[in-house]
Amino acid sequence: MRFSPVASLGLLAQSTHALLRFSCSQLVVERLDPLVNPGSDQSPHLHQIIGGNAFNISMDPNISPSDTATCTTCTFAEDFSNYWTAVMFFKAKNGTFKRVPIKGNVNFEQASGGMTVYYTPTIANGPPKEKITAFKKGFRMIIGNPTYRTEAQAKQFRQLTYTCLKDPMTRSGETLTFPKTACAAGIMVNVRFPTCWDGVNLDSPDHMSHVAYPSSGTFETNGPCPSTHPVKVPQLFYEVVWDTAKFNNKADWPTDGSQPFVWSFGDQTGYGNHGDYVFGWKGDALQKAMDTNCNINCPQLKSQTIAAGNQCQQQQKVTENIDGWLTELPGGMMVTPMKKERAFSA
Ligand SMILES: *[C@@H]1O[C@H](CO)[C@@H](O)[C@H](O)[C@H]1NC(C)=O
Ligand SMILES: *[C@@H]1O[C@H](CO)[C@@H](O)[C@H](O)[C@H]1NC(C)=O
Repeated sequence: MRFSPVASLGLLAQSTHALLRFSCSQLVVERLDPLVNPGSDQSPHLHQIIGGNAFNISMDPNISPSDTATCTTCTFAEDFSNYWTAVMFFKAKNGTFKRVPIKGNVNFEQASGGMTVYYTPTIANGPPKEKITAFKKGFRMIIGNPTYRTEAQAKQFRQLTYTCLKDPMTRSGETLTFPKTACAAGIMVNVRFPTCWDGVNLDSPDHMSHVAYPSSGTFETNGPCPSTHPVKVPQLFYEVVWDTAKFNNKADWPTDGSQPFVWSFGDQTGYGNHGDYVFGWKGDALQKAMDTNCNINCPQLKSQTIAAGNQCQQQQKVTENIDGWLTELPGGMMVTPMKKERAFSA
């Protein structure tokens, strides 16, 4: 499955209206999920988290992270939102796992891990024809499903993909599965959220049904929102550049021709790709940015350097070894579906 290289717009478009593209460094890597497992100090699988340091075991929707956070890893200094994804591991032939590091994206090479975040009001050049409503205090959502292992399941989500980076600028050839061949400059994981909101609910039991994709066409073709979800919101989009290059020696890859990367939730297919979001911009800063004709550099917003963002860090709430060659995935997550394991022969 192929998608148009939306990501490259962030780098190349001259006049897209109020496209925000910015870097947020790593805040912490730990087993915490205040959306799916609130109150639990260890979630089933490991996440990498960026954004404000109000990230916590539970996050009360009545309290804005921008009121409690004291720093953010994002270069837009008024953005105390939290954004997270699962963590990629390399599975060695001997069955041990090694965490794949994350590296800075194009223009953000100094970032210590983390992601590139986009808020795109409209893909068409020029001002959007309709008002784009920014997310509000208490808003949160998830896209993707970690239990999915088939293409049919993954296709319920339109744009959760992988880009095999031949070089850091590669923006074509997105796939729904992990790339099948070694990628010289890493694997970029792309997580695009739906762009239509019901206008009422800040969250929903599955953290998804309060948002929807356009009823026809796509965000990219400026498709209309369904009547159930009439409010256009910006397209929230994560790019995560997994630094897989050091695992590219084919001699270390499975002999059956499969690829060696696995998500922290035990998915070797890639179909379980998902991302989480808790809104936390200060006041109406995000709405102002969406209403204003700024592109990537938004002087209306307060900024900080990537180096300042790198300084904002949290400790794991429950200390857990996530580095070194691990005999199992953190939390003991099993790799599913169980592939026929070959007897390890030296
Ligand atoms: C996280 O929540 C606990 C209470 O559950 C609180 O004591 C702590 O200060 C919070 N940490 C942050 C960084 O907000
Ligand atoms: C497993 O394989 C990795 C990668 O080749 C290696 O670094 C590690 O030492 C091995 N572990 C054991 C217990 O053999």
